[in-house]
Amino acid sequence: MDLSLVHPIGVFDSGIGGLTVVRSLMERLPFENIVYFGDTARVPYGVKSVETIARYAMEITDFLLKKRVKLLIVACNTIAAVAYEAIQERSPVPVLDVIEAGASCAAATTKTKRVAVIGTPTTVNSNAYARTIHALDPDIRVFSQACPLFVPLVEEGWLDHPVTRLTAQEYLKPILAEHVDTLVLGCTHYPLLKSLLQDIVGSAMKLVDSAEAMAEIAARLLRKQGLANPLRIPPEYRFCVSDVPFRFQTIAERFLGRTMKRVEVVKLPLQ
Ligand code: DGL
Repeated sequence: MDLSLVHPIGVFDSGIGGLTVVRSLMERLPFENIVYFGDTARVPYGVKSVETIARYAMEITDFLLKKRVKLLIVACNTIAAVAYEAIQERSPVPVLDVIEAGASCAAATTKTKRVAVIGTPTTVNSNAYARTIHALDPDIRVFSQACPLFVPLVEEGWLDHPVTRLTAQEYLKPILAEHVDTLVLGCTHYPLLKSLLQDIVGSAMKLVDSAEAMAEIAARLLRKQGLANPLRIPPEYRFCVSDVPFRFQTIAERFLGRTMKRVEVVKLPLQ
């Protein structure tokens, strides 16, 4: 057996939000080893400059490559929006990102060719979703809305709270006026608001969860490139973070949907 097949999938994010992607990967690919890095000391990235995010992204890429990952997954929409090409250039192993995953799912889902994307200010300003969707189908109209308050609301655990509901109604008003039929949840934190958002936009609107789309694409890539782990034993999960902030465990487990054992704290700058 080729031993590199048991090497882990490397997943990274600006913080703990990327655990929504890990959760989907664990469900879809139950025999793959995973090493996660969350930059909890420097989160949030969504309001930082492109230069700073790109510099952090390079550091994390090198860190995970040293862990001998067989595939890199950029779970953070903000990092993917501004640094995907640079990460890909640097990586000898395949790189997948949530924007490509969400965009292709949206293009395949919309019937009316009117799609809305919500994300952090940096993701929305980068126009990365619109560019990726247009590359797939230039006839699709893309409407974007930054929702900066969603990240702290989700981290607070206000997943079905009147304040979150009111905030969401306010943010979604302009895009709902555009009569879109598909809404892309373009941020790691938003899948946790899925039922509240579905309630606001109505059951006819299709919600695209980039985390789920990513797990599907990762599974396809591993199969196509012959990279799947042939061992059918419980995999190893490693969680590395740059800080363990207040209430870390509770919030992280909410994203992961299960208990999280063995969290390793790594010092910055990453070696
Ligand atoms: N992980 C980020 C994203 O998906 C959200 C949190 C942040 O701003 O760093 O855009």
